[in-house]
Amino acid sequence: MAVRVEGKVFHLETKNSMYQMKADEYGVLRHLWYGNKTGSDMDYLLDYPDVGFAGNIYDADTCRTYSLNTLPLEYGTAGVGDYRVPAVSITHMDGSNALDLRYVDYRITKGKYAIPGLPAVYAEEAEAETLEIILKDTATDIYVILKYGILEEYDVITRSVVVENRGEQAVTLQRVHSLCLDFPYGDWEWIHFHGRHAMERQPERQEVFHGIQESSSMRGMSSHQQNPAILLCEKGCTETSGFCIGAVFMYSGSFQTQVEKDQLNQTRIVMGIHPDTFSWRLEGQDSFYAPEVILSCSGTGMGQLSRQFHRIIREHVCRGNYKLTERPVLINNWEATYFDFDDEKLLNIAKEAARLGVDMMVMDDGWFGKRDDDYSGLGDWYVNEKKLRGGLVKLVEQVNALGMKFGIWFEPEMVSEDSDLYRAHPDWAIQIPGRKPMRGRSQLLLDMTREEVRDYLYQVISAVLNSANVEYVKWDMNRSISDWYSAALSADRQGEMPHRYVLGLYELLERLTHDYPNVLFEGCSGGGGRFDAGMLYYCPQIWCSDDTDAYERTKIQYGTSFFYPISAVGSHVSAVPNHQTGRMTPIETRAVTAMAGSFGYELDLNTLSQEEKDAVAEQITRFKEYGPLIHNGDYYRLSNPMKDKLAAWAFVARDQSRVLIQGMIFRTEANMLRYPLRLQGLAPEKRYRLEGTEQVYTGAALMEAGILLPRSWGDYIPVEMLFTEL
Ligand code: DGJ
Repeated sequence: MAVRVEGKVFHLETKNSMYQMKADEYGVLRHLWYGNKTGSDMDYLLDYPDVGFAGNIYDADTCRTYSLNTLPLEYGTAGVGDYRVPAVSITHMDGSNALDLRYVDYRITKGKYAIPGLPAVYAEEAEAETLEIILKDTATDIYVILKYGILEEYDVITRSVVVENRGEQAVTLQRVHSLCLDFPYGDWEWIHFHGRHAMERQPERQEVFHGIQESSSMRGMSSHQQNPAILLCEKGCTETSGFCIGAVFMYSGSFQTQVEKDQLNQTRIVMGIHPDTFSWRLEGQDSFYAPEVILSCSGTGMGQLSRQFHRIIREHVCRGNYKLTERPVLINNWEATYFDFDDEKLLNIAKEAARLGVDMMVMDDGWFGKRDDDYSGLGDWYVNEKKLRGGLVKLVEQVNALGMKFGIWFEPEMVSEDSDLYRAHPDWAIQIPGRKPMRGRSQLLLDMTREEVRDYLYQVISAVLNSANVEYVKWDMNRSISDWYSAALSADRQGEMPHRYVLGLYELLERLTHDYPNVLFEGCSGGGGRFDAGMLYYCPQIWCSDDTDAYERTKIQYGTSFFYPISAVGSHVSAVPNHQTGRMTPIETRAVTAMAGSFGYELDLNTLSQEEKDAVAEQITRFKEYGPLIHNGDYYRLSNPMKDKLAAWAFVARDQSRVLIQGMIFRTEANMLRYPLRLQGLAPEKRYRLEGTEQVYTGAALMEAGILLPRSWGDYIPVEMLFTEL
């Protein structure tokens, strides 16, 4: 049993971790522990100091050492004397905002709970257990249900929250965070993932200082600028040693993660929907469901933590027919042609790609309506027959005849003012009456909260999918959201719109992915602007970044690898000089970098020399051989490309019979010794042969001393070595 209840102490256990909380004599749910197993009741850790200006609950009578402000709590509330960042804040009908939650009951069920309208980790009944703890406000009929999903074998605990208004009067929810996690002790650092367009998920590790630090997005999307995932590490924690905790928010809209170190050096993390662009009128007898947070921890460093997240996301978040199967190697025409293409150009690219072994041709932006640049056409999802003479069916048939699948690009949530859709339904675009809307990439957003908008999108997208043999959809989203206002919502509900937008997006994605199970959906938002576990529930892969420069990609993919599985990372070989940086890198270097993902090409292969074409054909053959190891194996970061002179990573087969090292030496220096790269995750006693040589090493030697990388010459030198157990 993953959940054990003794008295009012709740013990949650996974293979290697333990989570504890306790409803105390006042019914306050206190957090006791999240970390390695101790086999003990961790209540003994609690200290009850009489801290000045830390208030005492009324029930404690004359006792001055019992304070909600100093005790570790399971779900901190606003307005009742806990001055740390609250997890929940509600305005009642009388305008007050206190919420004093006390324990009522609990429920344990087999399997993993689901969340209506929202993505959530899913599992077979035998794989998971659900604990619900029911709390109630002392003065009103507001109930808060804390949900815990325990996936023992995966070392994962999920958390989510339901607020139930069992009274008659409406209340306004100002903040309902999905996670609140208190640590009374510890010297912590946190890692968050910041960035910008074409430079996403750059890890930044900082000491947790006194006060509040935050990683968040208010863009209506999870964003390029911050990712909804953090690590909390003990000082000194490395890839291979030390304790760390990861929290991934399974949500694609505005979010907030706050880390606070308080006056007593205690640390609290809260994570949830960003409260500054959220409010929710909760009617009597109604419930609000907060999105899910996935938690995991490791006592053996960050690498192990990442592997735990990779497994849970790949196996219990991603869905659909492509979840565990090999992804097609694709060629995308965006960097090859941008908007300037017709059927002939596409076919030319497809023909060469087919000759070299590519599985699928993806037609990117520009195939519909009036779309020769990014000023017009969005919303008009019907084929521009001036570009595709003979229509979509003919082109798809021609591509299929080459032995390739066909994929197509959409940006469903958007509308251009210069489009038939906007001319017919200007009111469907998000804008505030009386104000000029903000444009982003010269486009407006559609109001995804409205059913008729979603129905229209379902209908036009399915018309395209039904019209021809389309086997892949790239779902793009190219601007941040502003001007929050929906004509469909009353004034007192406008604060609900950002969250309702995400719910609308999820509803449409659910319908389409359900009705088209054979279509591979790839997420995208100007590259990786919506690279989150919420989108991965619908799209098993996401275009990682609009930066296709191999050198910079090693850093972006390094940051992405902390939580997201390799199969989720859309990654392509593009032309040189690179279109984002002007950098020249060898084609083999671009290929090994792109192979650490769902692999493809994004250039006109006809422009390559014969030698390069031969290299491409050989790379595709290699990827088909290594693909299962890359996507199903365990991923190890072997260097830190943000600091080191090289990027290196490895994929180790689950049975430790093979290991593939890939990477790049950034620069060669004169008169240098060769670089010894230490491997991880091998069986020490096994003997491994370096493929292509007769050299044999023990796993122990490869891990203790390492393997010498080849002597390099020039810059951005590719590294690839395959070791096989003898
Ligand atoms: C942004 C995407 O990230 C690109 O790959 C491409 O699809 C463009 N949008 C098209 O407008």
